[in-house]
This record gives sequence, C-alpha cells and structure tokens, in this order.
Amino acid sequence: MRRPFVAGNWKMNLDLPAGRALVSELRARITGAPPIDIAVCPTSIYLFPMAKAIADSPIRLGAQNLWHEAHGAFTGEVSAAMVRETGCTYVILGHSERRHTIGPKGADGRVQGETDEMISKKTQAALRAELIPIVCVGETLAERDAGQTEAVLSRQIEGSLAGLDAASSARVVIAYEPVWAIGTGRNATPEQAQDAHRHIRGRLVERFGKAAAEAIRIQYGGSVKPDNALTLMKCPDVDGALVGGASLKAGDFYGILEACIRAKGLG
Ligand code: PGA
Repeated sequence: MRRPFVAGNWKMNLDLPAGRALVSELRARITGAPPIDIAVCPTSIYLFPMAKAIADSPIRLGAQNLWHEAHGAFTGEVSAAMVRETGCTYVILGHSERRHTIGPKGADGRVQGETDEMISKKTQAALRAELIPIVCVGETLAERDAGQTEAVLSRQIEGSLAGLDAASSARVVIAYEPVWAIGTGRNATPEQAQDAHRHIRGRLVERFGKAAAEAIRIQYGGSVKPDNALTLMKCPDVDGALVGGASLKAGDFYGILEACIRAKGLG
C-alpha cells in the first residue's frame, strides 16, 4: 500500500515567529508515530530555522522551488544541493503559480511561466540531490471547459517527468492540482479528483510499468479543508493532499491529517 502523504504549501505566507508557532502547535497535537508522511513547505529563506523547529518530530521539511543548475551565475536562485543542505526532504516543483502566475506576460497577456521542460530539469536535479520532488500538474478552467483535462495531464506528466527511469520514478510524488480549485474555495468533487488521478496513474503505468506506477503517490491539491478532506482522501487513487490555505492554521492542517488517516483506515 502507498503510504499517504500530506504536505502544507505555505507559499509566501507566515513570518518566522508565526511559522515556528504553527509547527510547535502541530508537534503538540501529533503524538506518537503517525501512519502517514507529513511535511511543511515554508519560503526558502526560512528553511534553516524551520529545520530546527521540526527537529526530532515526524514533520519533514519541503522547499517550494529550486534551480536546476548545480552552481553559477544565477542571481537569486537556489540549487538542489543548497535546498538539501537546509535539511529538506521534499521540494515542490512546477506549482501552477509558477507555471501560470509568476513571470513576465507575453504578447497574448498570459504569463510565460515554467514549462514542462524546465520542470523536468528541476525534477532530475532534485533527485540527484536526494530530494523527493512533488511534481505539480493540473488543468486550467478553460482547459477543463474545453474538454482538454486528460490531454493536458498527459502532456504535463510526459513532459515534467521526461528523462526519468522506472527506478527513479518511485521517488517522485505527483500533485494533481486543478488550477481552478487552487485558493478559490472550489474543490474538485471526489469523482473529478478520482477520474484525474486514475488518468494520471494510467499514464504512469504506460511510462514506467505497472509496478513502479502503483508505488507512486498522487496527492490532490486545491481548496482541501478539514470538512472536505475525508471524502477526497477516500478515493482509491488519492494518496494524500497538498494543502495551501488550510495549512496556515495548525488546527485546520491537523484536521486534514486526521481525515486522511481515517479515510485510509489507518486509525
Ligand atoms: P489551496 O492551495 O489549498 O489554498 O487551494 C493548494 C496549493 O496551491 O497547493
């Protein structure tokens, strides 16, 4: 069975005292060894102090991005080895905000963000540094309305995981995050999530073979809250969650952890 995994993507939120307070409250609530993997992903400048804050706890640390080159003249960027050195276990890659929100606008007014090619380079750099990449995929509302969801997911999976073999694919986590559900309060229904996850699993089977694909965890992300987490996490191909807004409050994040544990029959 795939071990469920819930990660909190803090994005550019929480100052250092607030991050420390959140982790301290989480630590107090998580007693014993949890039956799922748990991570928090603060902004990169707080990774070192947050590594200290989570020390000797079941909570692991993730970064929100990295740059694929090992070193050199890349002002403002952080390499995979540098991320690893902070004590990170995970790194979120290709988040939809990096694909669609952050970056210069092209002539058509759309943001020219990260491409699948960039994300595949970052994924390989993360694996080389022994980080576990959380590779994000997901369709926009326009793509869903145009009936292109499966085609978009196939293209993103193929492109973002280019260059990986079956052995290294087992160390990757996928996050399915429909762009229209992120930060909107409008989560995918369990049926929509399961359909997308089943489609992604199918592409992974084609790409890496059945055994490898069955071992890859696929998180759902997009307006996951304590009150919708149980039904979403009950979907057979949903192996946990990537949580934005609800990860900024210890009580809400803990509620999602509990819902995931219950949904998977682990406690
Ligand atoms: P949300 O964000 O939970 O606030 O919708 C999810 C994400 O962007 O990872």
